[in-house]
Amino acid sequence: MPPPAATRVTSTPFAHESEVEFARILDFYGIAWVYEPRSFPLRWEDERIVEAFTPDFFLPDLNLYVELTTMRQRLATEKNRKVRLLRELYPEIKIRLLNKKDYLSLLAKYGYGPPEATKLPDIDRVLITASQIERRVGELGAQISRDYTSQSPILVGVLKGVLCFMADLLRHISLPVSIDFLAISSYEGDGSSALSILKDLDQQIGERHVLLVEDIVDTGMTLNRVLEYLWSREPASLKVCCLLDKRARRLVDVPLDYIGFEIPDEFVVGYGLDYQQRYRNLPFIAILKHELLA
Ligand code: IMP
Ligand code: MG
Repeated sequence: MPPPAATRVTSTPFAHESEVEFARILDFYGIAWVYEPRSFPLRWEDERIVEAFTPDFFLPDLNLYVELTTMRQRLATEKNRKVRLLRELYPEIKIRLLNKKDYLSLLAKYGYGPPEATKLPDIDRVLITASQIERRVGELGAQISRDYTSQSPILVGVLKGVLCFMADLLRHISLPVSIDFLAISSYEGDGSSALSILKDLDQQIGERHVLLVEDIVDTGMTLNRVLEYLWSREPASLKVCCLLDKRARRLVDVPLDYIGFEIPDEFVVGYGLDYQQRYRNLPFIAILKHELLA
């Protein structure tokens, strides 16, 4: 899970508007920050500090100090001189001088998603970054590869939300696997008990080791129905791998064998998950603004 954005921008006494904006962007991406946490002495006279430098931000996740620059050339030159001096005196410290244009591309480089993300009007904030997903999916793939050693499982995905997860997970499994997909109609709320299949499996799963891959388990009703359906085909074994577990909302107790992330009771989009068919293409998982669901 990403670190909680404990330092949301509220009353911190920022010196400049650009700092407020930078802090907002960090909050959006769930990146922890500290404002002016440390002063570095730069020059001494008779053991007395006569010059020091206090970078604007420290980002613990990236172990990086950030100094924001302005457009005013005289100030920029002065800051450059201080940063150069700081690097000489404290070679172990990572510091970047950033102007407005740079900071979105810096975050993109660290895997916090495309620079336009903060302009998405329906998104509250990023819950799980692209790099966190990548790392976790790699771990799941490795674990599955170990657990199914010398077997050849079939991964079954339920369309369409599982698209990104399936594609990435698959590439982290070092076994001969096959894949198949089911499409089902979403829950109608009419109490009808039969699962309505829009697209059935192409392959026989009888006697096979089946791993059902799911994007998100919420109430558990969908998964419960899908598992019943798959069991009726008499597989040799049937396990579940889900990326997101919204456990707080569970109504049906379904067994989950592999879980990517446990998430809070929030509606999330991105990495395959949609809100009214949109936002599947976000490379991260984000929380939708509450007012949209009201
Ligand atoms: P369940 O039957 O309540 O567990 O619902 C699971 C299905 O609901 C998932 O496969 C998704 O299609 C959808 N769903 C549940 N929560 C979310 C969410 O936060 N974002 C997007 N889709 C969701
Ligand atoms: Mg789904």
